[in-house]
Amino acid sequence: MLTLGKIYNKIYSEFKRLNFSSPQVETEVIITKSLNIPKVFLYTMQDLIISEDKEEAILKNFYLRLNRVPIAYIFNEKEFFGYTFYVNEKVLIPRPETEFLVEESVRLILSNNIKTCADIGTGSGNIAISIAKSVNKDITIFAVDYYESAIEVAVKNAKLHRVEEKIKFLVSDKLEYFMKNSIKLDLLISNPPYVSYEEYKNLQPEIYYEPKEALVVPTGMEFYNYFAQYGKKVLNRNAYIIVELNPFLYEKIYNLFSTSGYKVEHIVYDYYHLPRCMVAKN
Ligand SMILES: C[S@@+](CC[C@H](N)C(=O)[O-])C[C@H]1O[C@@H](n2cnc3c(N)ncnc32)[C@H](O)[C@@H]1O
Repeated sequence: MLTLGKIYNKIYSEFKRLNFSSPQVETEVIITKSLNIPKVFLYTMQDLIISEDKEEAILKNFYLRLNRVPIAYIFNEKEFFGYTFYVNEKVLIPRPETEFLVEESVRLILSNNIKTCADIGTGSGNIAISIAKSVNKDITIFAVDYYESAIEVAVKNAKLHRVEEKIKFLVSDKLEYFMKNSIKLDLLISNPPYVSYEEYKNLQPEIYYEPKEALVVPTGMEFYNYFAQYGKKVLNRNAYIIVELNPFLYEKIYNLFSTSGYKVEHIVYDYYHLPRCMVAKN
């Protein structure tokens, strides 16, 4: 039987040998989450004997990680906007840069007369749910995804965070539901698939565990083109649209919206000074 200290050293040295970028953090997460213990135990209880079944559980998760399965999928959870979301391989893992979309949406909702908003391509529901948790106002929030498997995850998260009454979940293609039912929006929010086929060839191995349909479109521009064209059909006058940007397509997207009858109000830059979020007005 192994002690906590021995199993730590075994995992740490293997991550290091294989050039994982943060071997210590990875080791800490694999062990503490597998055993459900606080991090401090790793450094204060090194002689603790680990039972065989616990050792098996740690090693199973460790081998998944060696195969580059993202930590969020191994433990079925990811932090976003201060909340913990359930995730599985049917949904994209929420990214920190998407928090800018939530911040901008909350700011607009609180400072304007916004009554109806929609999150298109909701995935785990992270955007719609974070907004519902942050605004204590009587607004209708729609959360749309093309895939029922994603909506199931989003509904599960809404229940976990007790906002299922505040959000209408829909399986639909982009804006189809709103156009068919003549529903008008005051705010359209989307973090759409925007990785081009070309970009998709050269990404970190972890990305290939995520659903391709959540990330990839032929040129990267398809959803932006669609929103620029059809957004007008569902947006009220002076309504807003907020999209996450593919930073490498920033100028194209900016020009597209500017020449399609929208006023680009501002661009939010991320921690790496890349343009990440565009706020435009109808
Ligand atoms: C980049 S992910 C964003 C997920 C989540 N909103 C986030 O920010 O982490 C794009 C989402 O769009 C959904 N999607 C792809 N094609 C769609 C379509 N035609 N209509 C609606 N949603 C679609 C995917 O299933 C995926 O959940």
